[in-house]
Amino acid sequence: MRFHVEPCGRPLRGEVAIPGDKSIGHRALLFSLLSQTPVRVLGLGDGADNGRSAKAVSALGGRIEKDGPALVIHGTGLDGMRVPASRIDCGNSGTTIRLLCGLLAGQRFQATLFGDESLSKRPMRRVIEPLAKMGATITGEGQGADVTPPLVIGPATGPLRALDYTLPMASAQVKTAILLAGLYADGATTVREPGPSRDHSERMLAHLGAPLTVTGRATTIDTRGWNRQLAGEGFEVPSDPSSSAFLIAAALLAGADEVRLPNICTNPTRTGFLDAIQQMGGTVAFEDERHAGPEPVATLVVRGPAQPLRAIEIAEDLAVRSIDELPILAVLAARASGTTVVRNAEELRVKESDRIATTCAMLRSFGIACEARPDGFTVEGRPDRPLDPGHVHADGDHRIAMAGAVAGLVASGETIIDDADNVATSYPGFAAALTQLGATIRVV
Ligand code: S3P
Repeated sequence: MRFHVEPCGRPLRGEVAIPGDKSIGHRALLFSLLSQTPVRVLGLGDGADNGRSAKAVSALGGRIEKDGPALVIHGTGLDGMRVPASRIDCGNSGTTIRLLCGLLAGQRFQATLFGDESLSKRPMRRVIEPLAKMGATITGEGQGADVTPPLVIGPATGPLRALDYTLPMASAQVKTAILLAGLYADGATTVREPGPSRDHSERMLAHLGAPLTVTGRATTIDTRGWNRQLAGEGFEVPSDPSSSAFLIAAALLAGADEVRLPNICTNPTRTGFLDAIQQMGGTVAFEDERHAGPEPVATLVVRGPAQPLRAIEIAEDLAVRSIDELPILAVLAARASGTTVVRNAEELRVKESDRIATTCAMLRSFGIACEARPDGFTVEGRPDRPLDPGHVHADGDHRIAMAGAVAGLVASGETIIDDADNVATSYPGFAAALTQLGATIRVV
């Protein structure tokens, strides 16, 4: 799939309903499998990655039923999972495979997980190592220095061992895998992390009655005296802030008569992108703030002509809280005055692509000077004239494809984005949403 993007000559305008948050969607599906009672999930996104988690739930004995706009998930409880009939295909989804590792570590059966070409290269040692310390058996392929899918998990021969583990990197996927395995361990399992990775698992597991406590950056599951039952009526999945970032950036760069994005998750572990924009001098208004179950949400609004932006430094906690938004922040940096520096973001190297390399290549194709660093990159902003028309190879990475398309709105001629199929993993309606706001983007 290829995007053809035309320069956008007028301000964007309109209201777009962004699909449900991908991270929360995975958790709503996989955690509901562990529930004793049916769980109603409202607002699940339509991306292929969440679809992988839904299929895994079915393969493990859960039943997913449509009920009007909602899905009702009839889980198996902690101990009623079915032996999957075949290998579980996780597609492009790192969250599906890593969360399943934690979920399956304590099961009395064996299961095999695999994925597409990109997922088959992603590092799994980070999740295998702590789970092995808990007594799980997980084997994978040896590619380079790490362990990669396919992964064969289990069978566990008894309860797992409780673990006190300090994560070497801030990772919500690894944290969640350990907490899920902790439900199958005797005693108190604690995960400590060096940075504020997204905390949806903590909020949602507590919502289902898991024996979970959070103290600073340490989260504990203590199964002592617990009745081993999770239950809850439902989850409302708020709209995805990571998908909204592309439309917010488009509205800031092209200008907005008024662009409104309702119901966006504003969990502080996900608002690094919005905080970075504010530091760059951009304005995004929060309206209609409320809670959707355990998550805060708001309508995000961009108004006014193209906003002048200035370069900033993105490092440490801000880098963790905007990790998935760094490619689109790089596009904003390309239009900002000064040199933007991104540091402490080495995790970008092991996302759906090497996002330090692919972000730099994407910006260079628009004529922007961008330098890769081991743990990030620098971008020389060019606010005084349009970007050159780009020709981006997205390298199968959804966020690079969408970031490139947004950059194309402020280029001096037609931009082409190749290898954009994987936009469907997180935001199949992306091109339609940009079109709805008044941009011209053709999908061929
Ligand atoms: C995610 C966690 C992050 C993020 C990914 C989704 C999650 O990855 O980049 O897109 O849903 O837990 P890490 O856990 O590797 O930081």
